[in-house]
Amino acid sequence: MLKTHTCGELNLKHVGERVTLAGWVNRRRDHGGLIFLDLRDRFGITQVTIDSDQAPSAHEAAAQARNEYVVQVKGKVVARPDGLRNPNLSTGDIEVLAENVVILNSAKSTPFYISDAADAVDEMLRLKYRYLDLRRPRMAQNIVLRHRIVRFIREFFSNRDFLEIETPILLKSTPEGARDFIVPSRLQPGEFYALPQSPQQLKQLLMVAGMERYFQIARCFRDEDLRADRQPEFTQLDLEMSFVDAADIRAIIEEMLIDLSGAMLPQKRIQTLPFPIITYADAVEYYGIDRPDLRFGQRLFNLTDVAAASNFGVFKNAATAGGAVKGVVYPGGNAISRREIDELTDFVKHYGAKGLVWIGVADKPDASGVYSAESLRSQVTKFLSPAEIQTIVERSGAAVGDLILIVADQLSVVNQSLANLRLEIGRRAGLIDPNLLAYCWVIDFPLLEYNEDEKRWQAVHHPFTSARDEDWTKLESDPGSVLAKAYDVVLNGWEIGGGSIRIHRSDLQDRLFAQLGMTREQTESQFGHLLEAFQYGAPPHGGIALGIDRLVALFAEASSIRDVIAFPKTAAGTDLMLDSPCPVTETQLAELHIAIRPPKK
Ligand code: AMO
Ligand code: AMP
Repeated sequence: MLKTHTCGELNLKHVGERVTLAGWVNRRRDHGGLIFLDLRDRFGITQVTIDSDQAPSAHEAAAQARNEYVVQVKGKVVARPDGLRNPNLSTGDIEVLAENVVILNSAKSTPFYISDAADAVDEMLRLKYRYLDLRRPRMAQNIVLRHRIVRFIREFFSNRDFLEIETPILLKSTPEGARDFIVPSRLQPGEFYALPQSPQQLKQLLMVAGMERYFQIARCFRDEDLRADRQPEFTQLDLEMSFVDAADIRAIIEEMLIDLSGAMLPQKRIQTLPFPIITYADAVEYYGIDRPDLRFGQRLFNLTDVAAASNFGVFKNAATAGGAVKGVVYPGGNAISRREIDELTDFVKHYGAKGLVWIGVADKPDASGVYSAESLRSQVTKFLSPAEIQTIVERSGAAVGDLILIVADQLSVVNQSLANLRLEIGRRAGLIDPNLLAYCWVIDFPLLEYNEDEKRWQAVHHPFTSARDEDWTKLESDPGSVLAKAYDVVLNGWEIGGGSIRIHRSDLQDRLFAQLGMTREQTESQFGHLLEAFQYGAPPHGGIALGIDRLVALFAEASSIRDVIAFPKTAAGTDLMLDSPCPVTETQLAELHIAIRPPKK
């Protein structure tokens, strides 16, 4: 090794030892006869002192060194004089008095200074020079955390009799789900593989194969529109078990997440144990979304019944047109300015709302429960009867000093805008405790949803998910009311995983495919392998997949999963460092029997 110690290792115990360090020059300070080099490697930073009197040739070499030069230093560990210690550095009590300095490589001046301050640098530049970005301590720590999490998960499941089994990356295109990435076959002209969106069917086939307990740290590929929490390729902890019900899967995942949280984030607290279980219907009713952030309250309240009977046009029209009127309370919000209220109105408009009704509660009602004009701050109370106002305030649970915010619209718009408004209120009012881990399970999802564009039913999760036992009778007669044996796990408002108990009988799988509008020929060609396998003794089975990137991002408090992936893609699906995707040669295309159809202008 070109080093005896790392740059994060030395402390007062090492004083007097001769050591060799190697790393990158984080900073050089030249005081003439004395040069200080802050030497950095993945483990930390150590200050090296080079004195021209004591080590003239080392001083000469150090004088040449610039930021990001790769340098090897031999020297003696000495205690820093009192007053010059740096409590912010793990090595801040010592420095290395250099005897010899060797420049192992020079470096051009980097496009941004390698420090955590470069968080503010344009992300496009960071992605183009990702190998420099990853030198920054924060990014390096994210990569280390990711490694530790994956290692923990592997050990956890290996210790419980799970087998890690690799499944193919060159797979088969199937409809349903997201768009596939496809790979042309040279040996089979005109035919294509698809990259797996997940190992779903293969892990089910592994259950038919009798593996009983499978997991995989699996790379998945989906050609979707990208966001902060979505990448075209991402990693799942994929898991499947035989002879289980939904509660068994939830129990083992819950145990793993509790242990993992304790091991990785000892300073944080899991809000509720065991994890709360919320039905999909309740999640949407009270949080407007199927992945509620439970770190704070502010549940939505429903006024649709009151609104239908009201003379206030905004309310009445929405309620009588089959829409909804719901609201949320901003605690202490009566104190915010009119300008801030307008900001909140613009905020909900992003989500399709036409406006925002606001009612500030400035004072208590009179003895009979009636709010006087002075006790409320609002532009709409004149349209509402005293009894309606009283019901609204009571149902909202608002106290004096709070601000009631209401949206009237189609149910989906109301829920989407209020779900986001609730989070915005959480941020603005400081309701979110950064040390809380609020896990929950969401269950009882609908099995099917109607696709208006294609005029057919489709699976909410995937078409291998089982209906609840008691709901199979309704599959054809009332498909919209059938609930699935599916569950999602949510952390602080992020969906970190989802899974289900699967259909393991070919007759039921046939019925579901038929309900999805697939012909016999289609199911045969696309899922024949699975239907056939189910005829050879498929055990009852179920599983789940957790998004590793999302989990690591939450644990690292990163705002995007890009920050916990070594080489992520941009929102446009490009890799700026490798400059991919890119054209291939005519020869390659010819071998693959492919001709390019240029996009229409
Ligand atoms: P699902 O599609 O819900 O389930 O995916 C499971 C988890 O994977 C993560 N995830 C993503 N992370 C980053 N970028 C993406 N584009 C992306 N898409 C999904 C999420 C999600 O909760 N086969 C089923 C699982 C099963 O039924 O066992 C599946 O893939 O955290
Ligand atoms: P208008 O009648 O358009 O002047 O709106 C009166 C108030 O009701 C304004 O504060 C609007 O922001 C609000 N408003 C209008 N439409 C809606 C709606 N669909 N939901 C909630 N508030 C609305």
